[in-house]
Formats: sequence, structure tokens, C-alpha cells
Amino acid sequence: MSEPRRIPIVDLKAQLERIRPEIDEAIARVLASTAFVFGEDVKALEREFADFCGTTHACAVANGTDALHIALRAHGIGPGDEVVTVANTFIATGEAILLVGAKPVFVDVDAETFTMDPQRLEEAITPRTRLLLPVHLYGHPADMTAIGEVGRRHGLPVLEDAAQAHGAEWRGRRAGALGHAACFSFYPAKNLGAYGDAGMITSSDAEFVARVRQIANHGAGAHQYDNVVLGTNSRLDSLQAAILRVKLRHLERWTEERRSRAAVYSRTLEGASGVTLPREREGARSSWHLYTIRSARRDALQAHLKERGIASAVHYPRPIHLQPSMAGAGGKAGDLPVSEQVSREVLCLPIYPELPDEDVERIAREVRLFVGSD
Ligand SMILES: Cc1ncc(COP(=O)(O)O)c(C=O)c1O
Repeated sequence: MSEPRRIPIVDLKAQLERIRPEIDEAIARVLASTAFVFGEDVKALEREFADFCGTTHACAVANGTDALHIALRAHGIGPGDEVVTVANTFIATGEAILLVGAKPVFVDVDAETFTMDPQRLEEAITPRTRLLLPVHLYGHPADMTAIGEVGRRHGLPVLEDAAQAHGAEWRGRRAGALGHAACFSFYPAKNLGAYGDAGMITSSDAEFVARVRQIANHGAGAHQYDNVVLGTNSRLDSLQAAILRVKLRHLERWTEERRSRAAVYSRTLEGASGVTLPREREGARSSWHLYTIRSARRDALQAHLKERGIASAVHYPRPIHLQPSMAGAGGKAGDLPVSEQVSREVLCLPIYPELPDEDVERIAREVRLFVGSD
């Protein structure tokens, strides 16, 4: 009997095969122009991505971590300030806060969507709080209505960590336009991924985006060598911008394809004992960056899938308040019971537009076999 086909967690080769002529053309165009930095493609991508999100402005930066770091700087956040966020996220969310000298204050997530629990938000706010930073984890938007209301009540801007949520929607509006500003990552495996590192900040506050742009380019003023604020080099190069422009044209279709894979998973896994399936909250349109189930026997389930050639991932095995690098935030085990519990149970199954439905069904069948529901 032949070995079953291996299923990777993401398949960028399959994606490239679908769009190779367009990518080749875009790369050739940038090479011919030799405008490798600050080219027309960067400007065009900023316009097109802002339009896609529904904001008036966007500024491209070198990666998603820089997007967060620079957005916090552009908000004037620094030592003595607190930023309320979640621990059930990639380390960059917390890093950016500590890197500007502020303190991350972590609130727990709701167990159903793995996103910031607005019920717990109020108790985390102190006179030092300057900003709320929810994360649309796995592509599921946080409850931006409730979070926005708390923000308004306390005069706090909301910055979205939308690194995993390109094309996600909350009550008919896209991630990127749900708070005062938003930060995106275009890391290659993201729903909209570059062929290297890339990031973006979106907002409809023109002055804020002007500050972002200045910080991302050495704090330059009207003239290149007129460095008026402390900045950095966080430019996006034209090759990445040209590649992202090609992919942006396909993003909506790819999101629909992800959504249909998620529906197949949910249909096939419905009722499997001992497995909790991800749900879309009413009003949410997830971009299904990851399809993440929960199981008390997560590690054994992952090993079972691996033996059958099926890759899976744990995002994330440790909530970031318990990471040694976040010690400055003073978190300890037991602070965030839901985040800590889900980090022991989450398992992300392969989901990408090119994943055949038969593979989704095969993965779901193996999950059911493992939990003994078949
Ligand atoms: C939730 C979240 N925030 C921030 C980042 C940082 O983005 P980047 O890897 O582009 O620096 C990522 C991506 O890795 C992420 O998933």
C-alpha cells in the first residue's frame, strides 16, 4: 500500500504556481525600473491596501513587529505608560510594548474566539493606561464594538494587531479600519504574504500616519537629511510591494476559499467527542488564518496526525505573559486562566486556499479516529 500524501501546514509552492506569470511580470518590472526603495509600487500598494481595508491612509513598513513598535511610538507611548493587550498571541505584540519602554497589561481572552474578553477590560485600566491593543487571533476579529466602547469611555485609542486578519470583518467593516489604527504583517505564511518580511499600518488619521511615515524613515522632515524626530529604517522594498500588489488582487477569493475549507472542517468534525471547534461569533467574518481546535489530549493528537503525514502547529504553546522575555511585565502563572488553559489545548490544522477538500476531510477523519468518534 502506498504511503498517504503528506499534507503540509502551509503550501506556498502551490500558491505560487497559481500566480507565477503575474509574479514574474511584477518582479521583472521592478528590476527594470531599478527603483528598489521608495518605488511607485510601494505607494500603489499603500493606496490599494488602504482601499481594501476601508481607511484613507496606510504606510508600508519592514515587518509586522516594526508596524506595532512604530505605531506605539507614533502614539507617543513610552516609559510610565501602560498598554492593555492579550497574552494569547505571538510574542511581537508584547515585545513592541516593552520596546517603547511601556508596560503590557494582559487581560484574558474569551474561550470561544480566543480574542480579548471585553468583560475583563475595564478592570485592567488604570490612570496610566494609554492604549488598548486587541489581537484578531487566527483571523477572527475581536469584539471591536465592546472594546471600542470601553476605549471611548476612558478616552483610549484602540490599535488593532491585525497581523493574522487580512480581509477579516466585524459587523461589515474590515480589519484595519476597526480602531484608530491597525498593524499588519505580510510574513510569507500570512493570508497576504510577501516573499520575505513586510508590514503595514493603516489608519484614517492622516496626521498619525504622517508621524508613522516619519519614524519609519529616520525621522526625516521636509528634507532627507533633516532628521527631526528619532526614527529608524523600516522601509518596505519595491520588490515585496510589487509581489504583494499581485497577491492583493487575489486575496478576497483566497479568503472565500479558506472560509469554505473551514466550513468543511466544521461540518466533518461536528460532534467529535473531546474536541472543541472554533466558532465565528455573530457579526464576525473570520479570515481563517488558522483553523484551531482544542483537545485535552492535544500533544497525542498532534503525534497521531504526524504519523499519518499530516502537519499541524501549536499557536502558541506558552501565553506570552509567561515568556522569560516578558518578565518586565510581571506576569505569573495563574494570572490568565483561559489563556493558560487554551495554550495547553490548541492545535492548528492545515488551512490554505490550495488545500483540496479531500485533504480537509482526510484530516478531519484522522482527528475523529483519534478521539474515537468513528
Ligand atoms: C499576532 C501577530 N502580531 C505580530 C506579528 C509580527 O509580524 P512579523 O513577523 O511580520 O514581524 C505576527 C506575525 O508573525 C503575529 O502573528
